[in-house]
This record gives sequence, C-alpha cells and structure tokens, in this order.
Amino acid sequence: MSETRRKVLEVLDGKCLTPPPIWLMRQAGRYLPEYRETRLKAGSFLDLCYTPDLAVEVTLQPIRRYAFDAAILFSDILVIPDALHRNVRFEEGHGPKMDPIDADGIARLSAVGVSGHLRPVIETVSRLRRELPTETTLLGFCGAPWTVATYMIAGHGTPDQAPARLFAYRHPKEFDDLLAFLADISADYLVEQIDAGADAVQIFDSWAGVLGEEEFARFAAEPVRRMIASVRARRPSAKVIAFAKGAGLLLKDYRHSTGADAIGLDWSVPLSFAAELQKDGPVQGNLDPMRVVAGGAALESGIDRILDVLGNGPLIFNLGHGITPQADPANVTALVSRVRGRR
Ligand code: CP3
Repeated sequence: MSETRRKVLEVLDGKCLTPPPIWLMRQAGRYLPEYRETRLKAGSFLDLCYTPDLAVEVTLQPIRRYAFDAAILFSDILVIPDALHRNVRFEEGHGPKMDPIDADGIARLSAVGVSGHLRPVIETVSRLRRELPTETTLLGFCGAPWTVATYMIAGHGTPDQAPARLFAYRHPKEFDDLLAFLADISADYLVEQIDAGADAVQIFDSWAGVLGEEEFARFAAEPVRRMIASVRARRPSAKVIAFAKGAGLLLKDYRHSTGADAIGLDWSVPLSFAAELQKDGPVQGNLDPMRVVAGGAALESGIDRILDVLGNGPLIFNLGHGITPQADPANVTALVSRVRGRR
C-alpha cells in the first residue's frame, strides 16, 4: 500500500489528506523553458501531441521539477475533431482553427478511424505509466461534448461561443446528435486511456459558463453523464473528475447529475459555496492562475484561504484553470512548497 499510494486516487475515493495532493492544469506548457525547447523540435503543436517520445518528455518535465502528485497526459481536447477530419491547426498567436461543421457535416460524421488516429496518444499513456514514479497518479483527459462542439461549429475560439449557442437553437436535432456522437466516441477514447494505464480521467468543459440553466442541463451535464455512464458500463471502477468552468451555482447538482467522483472548481466559485459542495464529495481547485503570475503575498494569501476553507475535507489542490505562459516557474516552486508545508 505505502509504495504505490496514489494520493489523488485516495481523495477521489473521498479521503481527506493533509496536506492535500496537488497538480496544476496545463502544468506542461509554455511557462517552462524545457517545454519551449521540446516544442521547437516538434514542428507543429499537433505533431507534439502525436509523437509519443516528445509527448512523454513534456508530460514528465513538470513532474521532475515539482514532483506533482499527478501527471496529466500531454495532448489536447481538439485531437477528437482532428480525428474527425476537421483539419485542426494551431497557428502561432491565433489559437486553434478547424473547418467549421454544419448540419450536413454532422449527418456525415463517422467514428471509423478515430481510434486508429488516436493510437499515438494511447501509446503515450502506456509509456507514461511505465516511466512515472509509482506514487504519481496518471490522469487521462478529453474535452466535454459541449466544449468540443463549440470549436467544431465556430471553427475557432470565440469569446462567448455565440455560434454554437445559435446553432443549438436553430438546429436542435442536429446539435443533440453532435453531442451524443461526441459523448460516445469520447467515452471510447477514455476507456482506451484507462486500459493503457490512466488511473483517472478529467473531462474539461471549459465553456460551460456561457450556458443558461436549461442549456447547461441539456448540453453540458447530460452528455457528460452519458459519457461517464458509458465508461462505467465497461470499466466500473473508472475514476472521473468533471470540470465545468464558469458554471457557478449550476455546480450544485453537477456531481450527482453526471456521476463524476469529483468536481473541478474555477476561481470564481466562492469558497463558502465550494465548502458546501465539498460536503457532498471531493473538489479540485481553485486558485486564480493570475496569483501564480503575481507571486508573493497574492500567491500566499490565495493558497492559505483555500487550505483554510477546504483543507479539512477531500481536496485536490489545483488552479481554477490552466497556468499561463507568463507564470514564473519559481512561483510554482513556492506554491508547491506552501501547500505541502502546511500541517
Ligand atoms: O494540462 C496539461 O498540462 C496537459 C495538456 C493540455 C493541453 N491542452 C496542452 C496545450 C490540456 C489538458 C489541454 C486542454 C485544452 N485544450 C482545453 C481545456 C482546458 C482549458 O484550457 O480550457 C481547451 C479548451 C483546449 C483547446 C486549446 N488548446 C486552446 C484554446 C489552445 C490555444 C490557447 C493556448 O493556450 O495556446 C490550445 C493549445 C495548447 N494546448 C497549448 C498547450 C500546452 C499551447 C500550444 C503551444 O505550446 O504552442
């Protein structure tokens, strides 16, 4: 037990650990000089995701530096549309782009070839499980159907996902088909990650916050429930973290309505509300990534508040969203030692 103790998994089982385990969303990324160096060798960003040697290397970089309690597979949520022939590309300074899909395109979607396309990512997962320290939890992930659909419909990032919201009102049947299709192929993808060695998986619904109450239930929570049910039908002990960024009060029933083991919280979730949610099950979060950029007292007081309010319940310490490129790696060292230094 003691040697293979994976703390993140213990918290997902409802245990309360002091200090809490810690990992950071986007912990492998441009704030690390060694990531930028590997990134240059890769050619395109997707080449980096599909080259197991390099993807393993960048996944391990933050583990070597900070000994985080979890490593997250290095990939991207947009490998799913890429596997669906949407011609995904990442242009420097412009964010992701792809060929936008319409109602006819949705009718033509096929799962044939998706698993083969994603084979290198699964290979990365198997190699990671072999190379990581035994005590490090390996997290797989994918995007939630709603968030992936927003990029597929618009063909690029937007500030408010107006194109996908509009499409959903105009073409409700096709939009439901798209979400169900994405839920099913994403569930298959998560099962493959689990079989290759992922200890738990996180579902990223980064754009949940632009939805109204009814739409959140239909477009965000329901497809995630469908995915988790599909994964658990095949792998009953699968552990799942569901992160619906910006969902606010709608998080109240999210753990129950989706069947997730734990829910991720962004920094706009008040800690008093987070404590209520934590009575029901484990939570993950929720430091503002800008506190890591600011460092010093802003970083320290943000960490202390979270530990004061959530530290006595099941907590996985994390940021409320991904770490940003301008964060100083030394501030991450300070963050990890402050979280671990407290009793
Ligand atoms: O967390 C990790 O360290 C694992 C890797 C990971 C990446 N993307 C690597 C990445 C994960 C878990 C993601 C998830 C992801 N990707 C999400 C959900 C979480 C979130 O941040 O909201 C979303 C919406 C995407 C789509 C995406 N990928 C966008 C919008 C961008 C461009 C913005 C940016 O930060 O550059 C990406 C690119 C991307 N994904 C980078 C990394 C390290 C930067 C690309 C580069 O290195 O050039």
